[in-house]
Amino acid sequence: MKQTISFSQFNIPSIVGASPPPTTTIHRRTTTSSRRLSPVLAVASPTTSPSLHQVTYSMPPEKLEIFKSLEPWVFENILPLRKPVEKCWQPIKFLPNPSQGPEQFAEEVRALRQRASGLSDEYFVMLVGNMLTEDALPTYQTLFNTLDGVCDETGCSRCPWGIWSRAWSAEENQHGDLLRTYLYLSGRVDMLMVDKTLQYLIGAGMDIGLENNPYLGFVYTSFQERATCLSHGNMARLATEGGDPMLAHICGTIAADEKRHEHAYTRIIEKLLEVDPNATMLAIADMMKKKIIMPMHLMYDGQDPNIFESFSTIIERQGVYTSRHYAEILEFFIIRWKLEKLEGLIGEARCAQDYVCGLPPRVRKLESRAKKIEPHQVKFSWIFNKQVTT
Ligand SMILES: [Fe+2]
Ligand SMILES: [Fe+2]
Repeated sequence: MKQTISFSQFNIPSIVGASPPPTTTIHRRTTTSSRRLSPVLAVASPTTSPSLHQVTYSMPPEKLEIFKSLEPWVFENILPLRKPVEKCWQPIKFLPNPSQGPEQFAEEVRALRQRASGLSDEYFVMLVGNMLTEDALPTYQTLFNTLDGVCDETGCSRCPWGIWSRAWSAEENQHGDLLRTYLYLSGRVDMLMVDKTLQYLIGAGMDIGLENNPYLGFVYTSFQERATCLSHGNMARLATEGGDPMLAHICGTIAADEKRHEHAYTRIIEKLLEVDPNATMLAIADMMKKKIIMPMHLMYDGQDPNIFESFSTIIERQGVYTSRHYAEILEFFIIRWKLEKLEGLIGEARCAQDYVCGLPPRVRKLESRAKKIEPHQVKFSWIFNKQVTT
């Protein structure tokens, strides 16, 4: 049985501030991890899966009024962050276009493959991971619509929260479509295994502890949008270095969308800190204690129970998303939301403020430990069963 050192930036070991000193040890997981879904559970049995988070409806009902009262503010401050469809890019802009005729299309596919040939297998593992993160969109829209007070109650709600969530989902859908088509045309990955992984992933869902609570939900999305922006941005840089400027353009364009999404969710938390600072501060601390877990943490390809850990190790080693980024995002939000300067917090919210503001050095301590992980070879089913270095 293989024992791997699991150090995902999204999967940092528990650091619980209020109680005993933080455990800054590197988390070790074996192939028998209780959190890893078995192949059957991953698709079929939510009731018996070993979930960490099963708290539901943690927001007191009286708080619903806060989200109702914010609707005019959302119309004015969040909906303008949508891009009109006619001004949006569409995936075909970056891809070989079959409408130009078969010869031109074949030539463009050849050129795409030629550009992709300079990129490493490790790069393609990371690109598949990013694509899967985008393509598991049904899970995200579902989760958004579990949040009390902001969900789209009809599927076509005119409430601004619903309008935003559908527009956001439509943009995320483009990200998955574009990356997926690029991967398909590149010929570098085994699409059968990639698709199987996606089907398992959407069937498994996400276990991130939002508790139907929009305070928690918007803390998570703020963090996650910034994280995906960084990740796509770093993939763009590596694509440039590997000789594929078009792929760099693709990743950079997606990163720009993520940045706009980040602005929206960050503004919402900023507003919540203004109207309900105690509950919002508690929510930030709660999500930090739970850790911001990567959306595809329940990823499985039908073969390798450690595929998520191996993927996480690769993106850490390649510098695409690391524990340093995790700490930097946390530091960014502490400043952006002026958390250290928040006044008038009472009771547990004061402790939560101290906990969150004192967290970055602890995360940075983990970063220094992560660098000691030795590389090793792992077989990835997505890469035609070749070995890649984690
Ligand atoms: Fe996205
Ligand atoms: Fe996004």
